[in-house]
Amino acid sequence: MLSQVMQEAINEQINNELFASYSYLSMSAWCEHQQFTGCALWMRMQSDEERDHALRLHDFLLARNARVVMKPIAQPTVDFESVASVFEMALAQEQEVTAQIDKLYELAFKEKAFAALVELEWFITEQVEEEKTAREIVHKFKLVKDDPASLLDLDRELGERKSDEGDA
Ligand code: FEO
Repeated sequence: MLSQVMQEAINEQINNELFASYSYLSMSAWCEHQQFTGCALWMRMQSDEERDHALRLHDFLLARNARVVMKPIAQPTVDFESVASVFEMALAQEQEVTAQIDKLYELAFKEKAFAALVELEWFITEQVEEEKTAREIVHKFKLVKDDPASLLDLDRELGERKSDEGDA
């Protein structure tokens, strides 16, 4: 049985993942509105992934006979300076999620919640991948700067993202 403190912390992380999903959807809407349809698709798929992350923890809690308690989801950023800044925010968001997962893992360790530790290992690996992917895209936008032809190419490349990328 999961301790109360562990249950609350995992519920909190469900909220964090749903916020990430909501935030990526907001980024997707902004990109689409700016006619960057490839970036919009990439962000929309990322939003779906974050929802899957929330559901993993949701299912884990229920499998451990614990309660899932939904909380309000904060409003994400809705305006951005540029499509490059959208991806910079995505990277910052992933770094924040990594810190949240690390904290949760540390708590599970202290609480001797062994099943939770195993579950959270998947998230630790996933965060390495997510940060790497976001960092690479931010780097590409830095190279491209404001060159319209290169921006269009990059948008096209991002629009080719496959649904199994990121493995979630
Ligand atoms: Fe669920 Fe991108 O972290």
